[in-house]
Amino acid sequence: MSTSRLTRFGVSMSEELLQEFDQFINEKGYNNRSEAVRDLVRDVIVQHEWTKDDQVVAGSILIFYDHHQKNLVNEIIDIQHNYHDHILGTSHYHIDHHNCLEIIIVKGQAGLLKKLSNSLTILKGVKYCKLTVSP
Ligand code: NI
Repeated sequence: MSTSRLTRFGVSMSEELLQEFDQFINEKGYNNRSEAVRDLVRDVIVQHEWTKDDQVVAGSILIFYDHHQKNLVNEIIDIQHNYHDHILGTSHYHIDHHNCLEIIIVKGQAGLLKKLSNSLTILKGVKYCKLTVSP
């Protein structure tokens, strides 16, 4: 990051959100709000840059789902086969009687990986699905 002079700007938010933010800052160990905001802004910008559609990136999709949901396991496998060129590997963990956690390691154009991630997110029985990428 550049070492240019710091510029101040005002931010408005609800009292409730600010309280939650202060608690977050506290738990994360930031010294002040500015430090936390800078970090968050950098993070968001980096993620945004890395997920521009034609960029080739590597990353992972974390998916948490109920394997008792009818057809869900087959649907997840079918989708992964459709994207076999972009999937480097998958690890499956049986979290408890109902829930599975799967980590899919992916590589390819960000736009494609987003499509893959979205097609998993919308399946019935998927409780959480998140794509994370690095350049
Ligand atoms: Ni399982």
